[in-house]
Amino acid sequence: MSEPFEPKIVAFVCTYCTYAGADLAGTSRLKYAPNIRIVRLPCTGRISPMFILKALQKGADGVLVSGCHPGDCHFTHGNFHARRRWTVFRALLSFTGIPVERIKFSWISAAEGAKFAEFVNTLTEEIRSLGPFEQYKELINETEAPASH
Ligand code: FES
Repeated sequence: MSEPFEPKIVAFVCTYCTYAGADLAGTSRLKYAPNIRIVRLPCTGRISPMFILKALQKGADGVLVSGCHPGDCHFTHGNFHARRRWTVFRALLSFTGIPVERIKFSWISAAEGAKFAEFVNTLTEEIRSLGPFEQYKELINETEAPASH
């Protein structure tokens, strides 16, 4: 009998807001799905679309990008840059055949531990219903396969 599907979700979060929100969820003993792997970065403005593609290539079934609310970014405009980048990146994802539903963008502050827990639980269920993400891994593996001599 095969194991039930447990989605792997990589969360790229800013250290000042969402990471602190995740920490608050933990210290408040709020339960949330253990499917999330957090990667902490200084600001969402630092998150390159390549990070998202790499996460999907390396086995993630879903990706979360989350940072400070608009107006609260510690680097003033980092989250606005991230939002603009996401708008463009979304179109590219569709073009390459990666379902945009697998990638979520959110604003979660340091005071929103409950929101973080709820968001992670909802996202986990959404990704679970989409099933494992295989097609992009296969595509990358084909293009990266060593040439036979
Ligand atoms: Fe949090 Fe910029 S410091 S999004």
